[in-house]
Amino acid sequence: MSYREDIAPLLKKDCVSCHGGQIGLYLDSYGTLLSGSSWGRVVIPGDTSNSTLLQRIKGEIQPRMPLNRPSMSLDEIALIETWIREGAANN
Ligand code: HEC
Repeated sequence: MSYREDIAPLLKKDCVSCHGGQIGLYLDSYGTLLSGSSWGRVVIPGDTSNSTLLQRIKGEIQPRMPLNRPSMSLDEIALIETWIREGAANN
């Protein structure tokens, strides 16, 4: 799984319109994705059960993301889950 080829395009399509400036969580670069928000990290490399970004796109933490829009597909969620499980590399 590749950040550049698999993950960044998904976040750009579904998340960056909101998380690219207006809200205190920036999902538009690897560095900001991994550093999270002022409330803490949202991706913990290798730890899918504590990565709140994953829980948000699955709707396990409300409000589900992307906010007020159709959920990501199961395939898209699986890509992100695998990438985090494999260590969330900047590749
Ligand atoms: C329409 C605007 C919008 C879109 C699109 C959107 N978000 Fe959000 N997001 C928000 C808002 C607003 C909050 C704060 C909500 C709250 O906690 O009440 C938030 C909160 C979050 C949080 C929690 C932040 C934290 O510090 O705990 C995560 C994680 C998150 N979004 C991820 C995503 C992801 C991943 C996507 C794309 C799949 C996405 N969001 C798309 C508006 C959006």
